[in-house]
Amino acid sequence: MNIYDSDRMADILATDGYSRTHEVENADLVILNTCHIREKAAEKVYSELGRLRKNNKPMVAVAGCVAQAEGEEVIRRAPNVDLVVGPQTYHRLPELLRNVNQNKNSVDIDFPLETKFSKLPPPNKRGASAFLTIQEGCDKFCAFCVVPYTRGAEYSRPVREIISEAELLVESGAREITLLGQNVNAYHGCSGGLAELIRNLDTIEGLDRIRYTTSHPNDVSDNLIAAHGEVSSLMPYLHLPVQSGSNSILKKMNRRHVIKDYENIIKRLRAVRPDLALSSDFIVGHPGETEEDFEETISLIKRVNFAQAYSFKYSARPGTPAAKLTDQVSEAVKVERLRRLQELVGLQQLEYNKQFVGKNMPVLLDRIGRKHGQLAGRTPYNQAVHVRISDHFNQNDLLGEIVMVYVEAARPSSLSASLF
Ligand code: 5AD
Ligand code: SF4
Repeated sequence: MNIYDSDRMADILATDGYSRTHEVENADLVILNTCHIREKAAEKVYSELGRLRKNNKPMVAVAGCVAQAEGEEVIRRAPNVDLVVGPQTYHRLPELLRNVNQNKNSVDIDFPLETKFSKLPPPNKRGASAFLTIQEGCDKFCAFCVVPYTRGAEYSRPVREIISEAELLVESGAREITLLGQNVNAYHGCSGGLAELIRNLDTIEGLDRIRYTTSHPNDVSDNLIAAHGEVSSLMPYLHLPVQSGSNSILKKMNRRHVIKDYENIIKRLRAVRPDLALSSDFIVGHPGETEEDFEETISLIKRVNFAQAYSFKYSARPGTPAAKLTDQVSEAVKVERLRRLQELVGLQQLEYNKQFVGKNMPVLLDRIGRKHGQLAGRTPYNQAVHVRISDHFNQNDLLGEIVMVYVEAARPSSLSASLF
């Protein structure tokens, strides 16, 4: 979502005459759009700010969830920061920047009643694969998580607003849209929720691929499961975080579901879409996690067989209930569990990817590759693919196209393919 938000900041600043540069040395303004989810991400902000201080004093703004969580503290710790702006007020950036020039209040971490979406200009060109925020915030209050405090209460954008943003994106070249929300399947902007929205978006001519992220098991409706079997543009990939394989840890996490619920959902999804690629997030070393709890997570991973998974060491976050628990797990144990979990997931990812070697796959080419003569894109199953193209193709003609490529090799996190 920070990528989406950064693009939207660029949209609104473009109306004030700003344009983007990748050269920090020449920038008049640098905005760090920040993440507060784990301590490491939050601390990175301050090292980046330290680095910026050595530059030719551009104006510096800190946006995003660190801004929201720390407010004026950011300026106290890093006096080179001119402006602190939270995730719900960045539509005010032009005005806030003018205020900075007049030495007025430079911290804006409101949760205003007006939504930023109604104040933002239409999105500028995004490319073949675009993000679209449909929902923000979270009312779930998992014990470890800062999101309900930094992004605020759940909010769903109206369907009409989403459809018109999607149409604009498609007109400007998007073939794939990933619907975003901290709790995207809690979307309630229409009576049929996310499933109805997806069925609506499916009718947009030229929109070939729809994805959504990130979802919560408790909000997987019957309608959404059915949509996975019925809507051809809904890609066969689902990121459905479970966090832990132990019921007692799920309880401590305040996840409000048990492992059996999660496995039932997966069974039902696989019944309607047997080739569905599954992904999850895992936290290791949550307070109270014993070796037995962790082994239950390992055993769940073995039973489900994930195409992909993200895993993190538990990070105590200020103000969250889990941070106050006394049975914290030592760093050494977290490191060791993360290594074991990632080793298993790495093997599953490799096995998953290997089954496509020697086959043709439709890939949406959305980026120029790092090597000469290479393009990069994604399969329907969200695998990253590096595609070697033969000399008789023009790279720019292929960019934004969905083409059949021949898969030559598999790694845990990507495929190599060729197009001749
Ligand atoms: N420590 C570690 N990982 C966390 N996540 C959220 N909060 C924490 C935390 N305090 C992970 C969860 C979530 C993902 C976005 O980040 O796995 O699904
Ligand atoms: Fe955080 Fe997701 Fe739990 Fe909400 S549902 S509190 S965003 S982990």
